[in-house]
Amino acid sequence: MPAAEKVCVIGAGSSGIVACQVLNARGIGFDCFEKGSAVGGNWRYENDNGMSSAYRSLHINTSRRVMAFKALPMPDHYPDYPNHFQMAAYFDEYVDHFGLREKIRFRTEVLSVEPVDGEWDVAIVGPEGERETIRYRAVLVANGHHWDPRWPEPAFPGSEEFSGEQIHAHHYREADVLSGKRVLVLGLGNSAADIAVESSRIADATFLAMRRGAYILPKYMNGKPIDEMLTPLTSRSPIAVQRFVSMRLLEISAGAMTTYGLPRPDHKLYEAHPTVSSELLPRLGHGDIEVKPNIDRFTGDRGVRFVDGSEDEIDLVVYCTGYKMTFPFFAPEVFSAPDNRLPLYRRVASVERPGLYFIGFIQPLGPIMPLAEAQSEWVADLLGRRATLPPAAEMKTEVAAEEGKMRRRFVASKRHTVEVDFYPYLREIRRERKQAAQRV
Ligand SMILES: Cc1cc2nc3c(=O)[nH]c(=O)nc-3n(C[C@H](O)[C@H](O)[C@H](O)COP(=O)(O)OP(=O)(O)OC[C@H]3O[C@@H](n4cnc5c(N)ncnc54)[C@H](O)[C@@H]3O)c2cc1C
Ligand SMILES: NC(=O)c1ccc[n+]([C@@H]2O[C@H](COP(=O)([O-])OP(=O)(O)OC[C@H]3O[C@@H](n4cnc5c(N)ncnc54)[C@H](OP(=O)(O)O)[C@@H]3O)[C@@H](O)[C@H]2O)c1
Repeated sequence: MPAAEKVCVIGAGSSGIVACQVLNARGIGFDCFEKGSAVGGNWRYENDNGMSSAYRSLHINTSRRVMAFKALPMPDHYPDYPNHFQMAAYFDEYVDHFGLREKIRFRTEVLSVEPVDGEWDVAIVGPEGERETIRYRAVLVANGHHWDPRWPEPAFPGSEEFSGEQIHAHHYREADVLSGKRVLVLGLGNSAADIAVESSRIADATFLAMRRGAYILPKYMNGKPIDEMLTPLTSRSPIAVQRFVSMRLLEISAGAMTTYGLPRPDHKLYEAHPTVSSELLPRLGHGDIEVKPNIDRFTGDRGVRFVDGSEDEIDLVVYCTGYKMTFPFFAPEVFSAPDNRLPLYRRVASVERPGLYFIGFIQPLGPIMPLAEAQSEWVADLLGRRATLPPAAEMKTEVAAEEGKMRRRFVASKRHTVEVDFYPYLREIRRERKQAAQRV
């Protein structure tokens, strides 16, 4: 077989389409396979790929000017925080604007990706069940990391005997499932905040249980979307300075989290992925949500005991306990991310598997899209042979150093394995691109 010329992009969510845009602009041949029949991934409500975690009321929580791709702003008439329908329409507009739609093979799932003599065999199945294996010189993985629900591990004792309902936030769509029930929401990330707020308006009772506290940041500060407070310039100040300023503003606007019955966070601001909600604290203040510590066990029928010994009758538990990073198309010995550990060079390049790149596998304090765009530009430099990676040993050292930095900075949790600061990471990729070009 002749050496492969093309590269493969897996997925046409926001990360996959930005990779396609950049490759296309550089004249690098590619095939993009998308399991669903539309672009937008998570942002396509009830996506027929069966993988979207979007619920009916979902809006972005990173504001539109910061979140938009550099190559195409979101429409001016969009609000600061568009809903998922508007986000899906933006991604549609993006692929049409850049003429990418006909380059994406929809309803085509990647089944396996295998390394062969320095290249990659990608097996796909198309809309009519037709199977094909195609060889590529590189693979850009963009299958997303918020679709495979992480249920509590291990399950809480007695959960099998519980006669109420238990769902994960991934399966939550419409608020009517909460109506008239005694609902327990577990977690204090963004899914938990949104679902507890919805529940507080429609359920008979809403309990919000958590194993640690969090700083609940408002969507607006001083009349501006909160993420616009940080700029490329101010983001150069040390994190301690940013934290000091943000904490003062939070103290003035909301005060201590304990005021609302939430536990005092066991960490400093920006040591955990931000929970952003302008509604949760007032709903707690109205008494329409009762705060609980973590679940201890289920106590038969509808009973739930919490770790403080209190007990309540619950009809529905919504586990907002995050997501697993999984790659069903890789054999485990080729690639996997146990406990969400993804040791990639600059969060993109596999050190052990040359030619394997990951787009969007970051959890930024800010939006993913512009960072996935920057990652794609760098990967296109590498694929266009304008730039090269450092030697493997150097990459390994860098990856280990980065993991150490992250462990020191963030609360130990499977949700904090790919955290990055928005502007510093953009600068890191820009620096890497320069150095990579000098290596050629
Ligand atoms: C409820 C919720 C709200 C969020 N809000 C925000 C926010 O406000 N701001 C923000 O920046 N991020 C947010 N995120 C993070 C979210 O991951 C990103 O917004 C974005 O969806 C990432 O895009 P992606 O393309 O990497 O992944 P996805 O959107 O998950 O897209 C992956 C695509 O790959 C396709 N695919 C998967 N496997 C295969 C396969 N084997 N073969 C072919 N195709 C495949 C899927 O069909 C899908 O279209 C949120 C996440 C959730 C769950
Ligand atoms: N646009 C939006 O408004 C919006 C809405 C929803 C989600 N999102 C995004 O989607 C992504 C996923 O968010 P998410 O909230 O679903 O998940 P997440 O950020 O991973 O949060 C999971 C929460 O569950 C807790 N948890 C996990 N396992 C637990 C266990 N066994 N027992 C008790 N608590 C447990 C975690 O606590 P620890 O901190 O202790 O681990 C954390 O509070 C994030 O990027 C988020 O920003 C955005």
